[in-house]
Amino acid sequence: MNVLDIQACKTRGEKIVMLTCYDYTSACIVQESDVDVILVGDSAAMVMHGFGTTIPADLEMMCRHIESVARGTSSKFIVGDMPFLSYRQSLSDNMRAIGRVMQAGAHAVKLEGIEGNGESIVHTVKSGVPVMGHLGLTPQSVNQLGGFRVQGRGDRAANTLRQEAKACEDAGCFALVLECVPDELAAEITASLSIPTIGIGAGPETDGQVLVMQDLLGLSSNFKPKFVRKYMDGKAAWLSAFNAYASDVKSGRFPTADESYGQ
Ligand code: KIV
Repeated sequence: MNVLDIQACKTRGEKIVMLTCYDYTSACIVQESDVDVILVGDSAAMVMHGFGTTIPADLEMMCRHIESVARGTSSKFIVGDMPFLSYRQSLSDNMRAIGRVMQAGAHAVKLEGIEGNGESIVHTVKSGVPVMGHLGLTPQSVNQLGGFRVQGRGDRAANTLRQEAKACEDAGCFALVLECVPDELAAEITASLSIPTIGIGAGPETDGQVLVMQDLLGLSSNFKPKFVRKYMDGKAAWLSAFNAYASDVKSGRFPTADESYGQ
């Protein structure tokens, strides 16, 4: 997969499948799957490090996760999230941060919002780095938005979102994440853009979908927003394996002679 393949999916009407991933072991499994694009999201701060928001993610954290994922994959397209405020500095500092994410193993960067980011996006794209935009619920602005809530409801907010989506395309973004946006608005924006949209909580009409791996696997026990589909009860499966192991150790059933070294 590369940016041309991703664009071709939109042209052919084929859905793009993006999944978050943060570590080597999971990346090796994703490599064998039908997932098209890996997002090393700053949601790592929440699902891998236990923070309540994505704001504590920094460049160091993101680069370590991107490096681990890159070591586990050979042909997946890796998008690296630019962490909180890392692309809101001077143009040269922004470019240094983007350089670090790319050198960690990403094939593209994702950054939230367009207002105030236009110049950086244009410069980044002209420097040969593909940029994925992210509009709607932009979690790094959770304090400004007043919580994790649906965006683009009402005429004014919908209009702003339409304009921002067009501005992302005009700035050179190769794709656009729409997060927590009413389905009709997401469908309209998708139809109006030539670049693909990838939705999360944005209905079925976007050009692709993205989910957080831990949500899809049913590992995030206290988190069940409307848009998440759990494809397995990972928590129950893990618990049952951990308890089977504990029971085997306590009862002396593990390890057996076969699982031990002889003389
Ligand atoms: O960080 C992330 O996982 C994301 C997705 C939810 C789009 O930005």
